[in-house]
Amino acid sequence: MSGSYPNTRMRRLRANAWSRSLHRENLLTPADLIWPLFVTEGAGVEEPVATLPGVSRWSVDGVVERAKEAVALGIPVVALFPNTQPDRRSDDGAEATNPDNLMCRAIQAIKDACGDDIGVLTDVALDPYTSHGQDGLLDAAGYVINDDTVAVLVDQALNQAEAGADIIAPSDMMDGRVGAIRIALEMNGHPNAQIMSYAAKYASAFYGPFRDAVGSGDLLKGDKKTYQMDPANGDEALREIELDLAEGADSVMVKPGLAYLDIIWRAKQAFNVPIFAYQVSGEYALIEAGAAAGAGDRDALLMEKLLAFKRAGCAGVLTYHAPVAAKILNG
Ligand code: PBG
Repeated sequence: MSGSYPNTRMRRLRANAWSRSLHRENLLTPADLIWPLFVTEGAGVEEPVATLPGVSRWSVDGVVERAKEAVALGIPVVALFPNTQPDRRSDDGAEATNPDNLMCRAIQAIKDACGDDIGVLTDVALDPYTSHGQDGLLDAAGYVINDDTVAVLVDQALNQAEAGADIIAPSDMMDGRVGAIRIALEMNGHPNAQIMSYAAKYASAFYGPFRDAVGSGDLLKGDKKTYQMDPANGDEALREIELDLAEGADSVMVKPGLAYLDIIWRAKQAFNVPIFAYQVSGEYALIEAGAAAGAGDRDALLMEKLLAFKRAGCAGVLTYHAPVAAKILNG
C-alpha cells in the first residue's frame, strides 16, 4: 500500500510551506468556536475571574458587547452562564425557571442586538441557582433525585427557549432529560430549538475555575460522582451518547476536552453525528499558567490544542480562548 524508502520520503511533502499547506488535513476556523460567557448583575460591570486570567464576568450590557465582538470575529455561537446573586439561590433552584432571571435577560438582550447573526447556547442544570451547588434537587440524604430534577430542567429549558435561546444544552447528566426536553420544546412551539447535550460529561477535577466564575464553588460540598461519569470509563460514554441521540439530541458534547480525545474519536466513528468538545475552565487555566511559567508560547500552545479537537473529529469546540483564537486565525 505504501512504498518504501527512498521511493517514498515522507519529508518530501513537508519540505515547503506551500506543500504543507496543500496537504494539511484539518483546519480550524473561527466558525468552529463557541465562546462561553459569564453573566453578572448590574450595568457596566466587568469582574475578572481570578482563576481564569483574561476571563471576566460581564453585566448584560457587556455580554451584548461580547456577542457583537463574536459576530465581528466570525464566532457563530456564544454560551451563557449566570452568576446568580446569593439571595436568589435556593435549595430547589427555582430562580432557574424565573422568566426574568439573569440568563433570560441576557438571552433577550443578545437576540435584540444581534438577531440571527449569532446563536445563543444556554446551559441547563441547576447548579448556578442552588444554595448547595449541586445540579439538581436533593433528597434528605443529599442524593440528587433524577426524575424530580428532570421536571425542573424541562421548565428551565422552556424558560430559556421562550427568552430566545437557540441551542439548549443540558449539562446536568440526569437520565431521560434530553427526551423530556425535546417533547416539551415540540409541544410548546419550539420545534427548531436545538439540543446540544452534554452527553459524556465526566466528574472532573478541571471544573474548578468555572465554579468560581458562577459562584457555586464555595457552596458545593462533596462531588458530582453520582451523576457525572467516572474518568475511567469509555464504553459507558458511548452508551450515554447513543441514548441522548435516541432521545432527540441534535449534537452531543464530550467534556472535558483534551483528556478525552479518545471518547470524541470513538463517538465520531460510532455515530458520525456533530460532536463538540468543551475545553473546560481548568484546561484554559493550565494553558495560561503554563505559558506564564515559560512552558511555551501561549498562542502556539492554545492553537495546537484546539486543532487536536478537529483532528479527533469535532465539529467545534467550546473554549474560553475563542476570541483569542479567532483573532489569531483572522490574522
Ligand atoms: C454546570 C456546568 C459545569 C461546567 C459547565 N456546566 C460545572 C460542573 O458540572 O460542575 C464546567 C465548565 C468549565 O469548567 O469550564 N453543570
